[in-house]
Amino acid sequence: MEIIIRPSAESANGFVSRVIAGALRAKPDLVLGLATGKTMEAVYANLVRMHREEQLDFSRCRTFNLDEYVGLSGNHRNSYRHYMNDNLFLNVNIDLKNTHLPDGAAPDIEAECERYEALITRCGGIDLQLLGIGLSGHLGFNEPASSLRSRTRVKVLSPVTLAQNGGLFPTPAEMPRHAITMGVGTILDSRRCVFLATGEEKAEIVAKAIEGPVTSMISASTLQFHPHCTVVLDEAAAGRLKEADYYRWIFENELQWQPYRDDPASPQPASPAPVARPREQVILAARHGVVS
Ligand code: GLP
Repeated sequence: MEIIIRPSAESANGFVSRVIAGALRAKPDLVLGLATGKTMEAVYANLVRMHREEQLDFSRCRTFNLDEYVGLSGNHRNSYRHYMNDNLFLNVNIDLKNTHLPDGAAPDIEAECERYEALITRCGGIDLQLLGIGLSGHLGFNEPASSLRSRTRVKVLSPVTLAQNGGLFPTPAEMPRHAITMGVGTILDSRRCVFLATGEEKAEIVAKAIEGPVTSMISASTLQFHPHCTVVLDEAAAGRLKEADYYRWIFENELQWQPYRDDPASPQPASPAPVARPREQVILAARHGVVS
């Protein structure tokens, strides 16, 4: 896991947007996994701006969203299809035929889950999966006790999730109690995961997911198994991490992140030039908050 802590939510969102844009430029027919939620709105706004101002091209991109509420058709204003059309798809040059979400209004929900899994496989699998985290620790709607090998299926939403997302519906009672979601196994099959969390309310669950044991009770903790997972946090969401200084040290010295460190939109505090030292000393120094 690479854990990257940015000074503000704006800078964390900007960082993730640039990683996605870089992947899309490198592979124009990218299979992009997408997430919903308030956190992602700024990322999509950045991508729309990059499309308009920097010619970011979505014409060959294919997308798969993590989840959809059962019982809501794509026209419903609280459906994730509506959210995606509104925040991204209708504002860039993507072909809507290449954008996929589970159909929450499908007559046969089980068949719909199987169809969705098969479609991901037919497109060659997901190249880059964008992920947020719910207060229950879920990825997509993989609520506590989701199997670590699960595939796309229907999940009962937890009381924590109903409380978190209920406010987005005209009345909380209108929020569906079930959702179709990619499974933990489906998500872990993505070639790359980019996880974004911002804000203090996420700090506790983020620390459990990143530094706690891997457990089906927090599906985000399973990202520790993923061979290429980039975690991007703002200072507030990173506030409960024990090893934050160590993660900062790695980021400051990781060559691949050089162009991102110099992002003028997200200034970093000046840091001394890296000095080659034995790994043990570096870890010890980072633990004690010494970064030179
Ligand atoms: C929903 C989605 C998740 C997302 C979460 C976070 O529950 N199913 O994929 O990570 O919202 O939402 P927010 O960004 O609003 O905190």
